[in-house]
Amino acid sequence: MSKIVIGVSSSISIYKSCEVIRLFQEKGYEVQVVMTENASRFISPVLFKALTGKPALVDLFKEGISEHIQHVHLADEAVLFVVAPATANVIAKMASGISDDFLTTFYTAAASPVLIAPAMNERMYLCRSNQANMERLKAAGVRFVEAEQGYLACGKQGYGRLASVREIVSQGELLIQKTQSLKGRTILVTGGPTREYLDSVRFLTNRSSGKMGFELAEEAKRRGAKVVLISGPTHMIPHPEVQFIPVETADQMGEQVMKHFEQSDAVIMAAAVCDYKFSKKAAGKIKKKNLPLEIQLSRTEDILEKIGTMKKDKICVGFAAEVEDIEKNAKNKLTRKNLDLIVANDISGKETGFESEFNDVFIIHRSGKILPTGKKSKLEISKDIMDEVEVLIERKN
Ligand code: CTP
Repeated sequence: MSKIVIGVSSSISIYKSCEVIRLFQEKGYEVQVVMTENASRFISPVLFKALTGKPALVDLFKEGISEHIQHVHLADEAVLFVVAPATANVIAKMASGISDDFLTTFYTAAASPVLIAPAMNERMYLCRSNQANMERLKAAGVRFVEAEQGYLACGKQGYGRLASVREIVSQGELLIQKTQSLKGRTILVTGGPTREYLDSVRFLTNRSSGKMGFELAEEAKRRGAKVVLISGPTHMIPHPEVQFIPVETADQMGEQVMKHFEQSDAVIMAAAVCDYKFSKKAAGKIKKKNLPLEIQLSRTEDILEKIGTMKKDKICVGFAAEVEDIEKNAKNKLTRKNLDLIVANDISGKETGFESEFNDVFIIHRSGKILPTGKKSKLEISKDIMDEVEVLIERKN
């Protein structure tokens, strides 16, 4: 039976968490409750024990519950973490990574999707710091069931009411389904820049941080795919369950893409592959006095264009970094390289694109359908791209 962890914090709407538990149980899930100390003043953990058959976890240091490091062990087992109701305080702690009780520590250890259903007074809900904290969590991939408008415990009408139990449970189920949506598929992602060496120390490269490719790889992994990530040098840390292949040059990247292409259902070329390499590479370090002032370059092979000619039923996704006529240029690139999807971004924007946490892209289909994402974190953009890739894979099979 799949296990859902339900985090309960101290809002007046806490009594509705019992219905959330019941509904998940009716749908066949095993539920483990974790609650804050303050929540245990509203409702005794004994009630949750009676509902779930397991002690509600409140204290991180309580002895004798389990021989495992419990928050980590639970994080390995859970298919979903739902915080309902979530107070402004819990949201703030989660947004800044404070882990001072079981619930917040569990969040930092969670490996599953996370869903938050806030509930509080309207002024607290709309308070700028609460809104900023929610935005921060959204940018980190946490999903929200937005609070509703209606009668509040303070006696007024307004925003801040806990979403309906049905809405919370159905959004939770959708998130669980998403973790399986690419099961059995293999997704090949490239990321980062390439380095083209003149000698053993000097090279040509570009400003790519690798962030987009790494986020895409992680998102595909979260959806249950087998993921191969081929990347040029970056400071990013790959997801431990992603097959990571570090490369340096465009030639090495091309070689690895060819090696893994056949087994893949989709290839996403997010790498900023250098278009040029030095025609000759010296074995050691060229002495300054011997450095030529004019250096011969040659074109690297266009990996994406090559796989576009041999793709058959595979989905090929490219990126287009543009400064003008974004849509037109990207569409031309899509046709020229025989792609299914192209992600076009305007690299003239200062706050998005290269070396930024954010991006603002157009996802363009071969059919001409265009989806503008607006400015979002690269993690959120990777979800948008993967949603489209998923549909295209389904359609081909
Ligand atoms: N690409 C590739 N192999 C190369 C160069 C680029 O596979 N040698 C891929 C990139 O990974 C990206 C897409 O092709 O998915 C970018 O296409 P490209 O034609 O290089 O576009 P821009 O870099 O935007 O260049 P330009 O607009 O100058 O043509």
